[in-house]
Amino acid sequence: MAAKAELQMSTALVTGASSGIGAAFAEAYAARGARLVLVAPGEPRLREVADRLRGDYGVDVHTVAVDLAEESGPDTLAKAVADIGLDIDILVNNAGFGSRGPYHETSADRDHRQVMLNVVAVERITHLFLPTMVARGGGTIINTSSTSGFQAVPYMAVYGGSKAFVLHFTIALWAEYRRHGVRVLAVCPGPTDTGFFAVLGSRMSAGGRLRTTDEVVASAFRALERGQAYVIDGRLNYLTSNASRLLPRGLVAQITERVLRRGSMVMLQPTNRRGRRWNVARLSPFGSSASSDGSRRPTGVGSDAALGRFVVPDQQVRSGQQTGDARAVESGRQ
Ligand SMILES: NC(=O)c1ccc[n+]([C@@H]2O[C@H](COP(=O)([O-])OP(=O)(O)OC[C@H]3O[C@@H](n4cnc5c(N)ncnc54)[C@H](OP(=O)(O)O)[C@@H]3O)[C@@H](O)[C@H]2O)c1
Repeated sequence: MAAKAELQMSTALVTGASSGIGAAFAEAYAARGARLVLVAPGEPRLREVADRLRGDYGVDVHTVAVDLAEESGPDTLAKAVADIGLDIDILVNNAGFGSRGPYHETSADRDHRQVMLNVVAVERITHLFLPTMVARGGGTIINTSSTSGFQAVPYMAVYGGSKAFVLHFTIALWAEYRRHGVRVLAVCPGPTDTGFFAVLGSRMSAGGRLRTTDEVVASAFRALERGQAYVIDGRLNYLTSNASRLLPRGLVAQITERVLRRGSMVMLQPTNRRGRRWNVARLSPFGSSASSDGSRRPTGVGSDAALGRFVVPDQQVRSGQQTGDARAVESGRQ
């Protein structure tokens, strides 16, 4: 992270800033005195966030209401920024959403919009703002990937693929632009407490603790200070993301598919902040799951969920599946 004095002279553009992780990034930069450009399609919510940040931090906040899943969205955004007369020092490509279900049954239009927003817009917006940063010899780009980016995620094939793109695209740019003074970071949250699951259409909720948006932002800022190419938010997410990398990719995908389809795998979930208490619940992809505390929990398939937080064979522990909601029992990855 740049020094506070430096940030007070900076302009941060955050996409998906009207809620969740994007709103938390916007607030964190406002708290450090940066001027903001907040971007999302829904104008009323965007205005609400902007008014709050102006009131709380006294910073200059601009809003651009634009649908970045539209082909013309990124160019419309760049034009709006140029019309305001701002140079962007910090770009947070955060807007994104997921869908779930057997691929042939998901909406082709929704999947297309998902690729347009999660992949095409991220790439295009980076193309629009990076050259100025390179010319100035400084800048920051944070792209929101996901723990889903570390493996194939059956029943969330498009989402997992889109986040893998963001992860690898970002790491490549990190390597290319270090010597130009531009910091590039992929932030990979696991299940985080936002509106993501409502958009996903998940029926799941239950068990362990979701990470907070503030924790995700704090992880990103720490990683920027350390000059990392990517960061996985949360120790448990770090362990599970890396554990799956030790196995053959096909095997991981097969296990994930099986878990999500048949509920034949299980997992342990932490139920308190420090992960010292564990809840054991049984996977039941489309029904409800029973957990070790005796309650029944609704479940659903796929999500920004991860394969196998501690997914182990049925006989050893039991668990359920989730939709990116860490409390849900799952086997996908955020
Ligand atoms: N929450 C998690 O568990 C989790 C885990 C890993 C990664 N992520 C990633 O984190 C990022 C932020 O998600 P979140 O969890 O904060 O979800 P969220 O609360 O649903 O926020 C999504 C944001 O993206 C905006 N957005 C949606 N469609 C858009 C479009 N077509 N054009 C421009 N902006 C659009 C939304 O604006 P409106 O409100 O106006 O629709 C909203 O501001 C996403 O990339 C997501 O994939 C989330």
